[in-house]
Amino acid sequence: MSQSKIVVEAAERNKEPILKVLEDVIPEKFGAGSPSLSALEISSGSGQHVVYFAEKFKNIMWQPSDIDEKYIESIKGFIADENLENVKSPLVIDITKKENEAWGLRDVDDLEKEAKKNGMTFDAMFNMPANNKILVWLKSEEKELA
Ligand SMILES: C[S@@+](CC[C@H](N)C(=O)[O-])C[C@H]1O[C@@H](n2cnc3c(N)ncnc32)[C@H](O)[C@@H]1O
Repeated sequence: MSQSKIVVEAAERNKEPILKVLEDVIPEKFGAGSPSLSALEISSGSGQHVVYFAEKFKNIMWQPSDIDEKYIESIKGFIADENLENVKSPLVIDITKKENEAWGLRDVDDLEKEAKKNGMTFDAMFNMPANNKILVWLKSEEKELA
């Protein structure tokens, strides 16, 4: 087993509820037996989630990312141990510094503004067990992400 792997209890607890939402949303939005899809996971953390989802959705090429080197190494450890062909090597992506270091997404209104700017439309919200939520936005084909 890879030494770099970090196991986070909260990630272990919520991977199943998140999977249930993905199992609901992905076939509905992209069609059952969807052709090859790609998914970018922002702030992947340990990598527990991406390998779990990749095992369930073999038709999706998963791209994990995080800002923290210890998580990048942990993700690499999970990928190596699970021997999955549909997970790419993790990227270092900082989601806050590009526009303004003080900027962050704090509430749904902020998310809605960013989504609108990028041609994305709110679609659905799912309650998670630990008092948090999954929100789904869909992007029209015509507009490239800003
Ligand atoms: C609470 S963890 C969530 C991890 C994972 N998605 C999960 O559900 O278990 C938050 C993650 O955000 C990452 N993070 C913090 N600041 C970031 C930034 N500026 N850009 C990208 N990721 C960042 C952290 O390194 C950490 O992995």
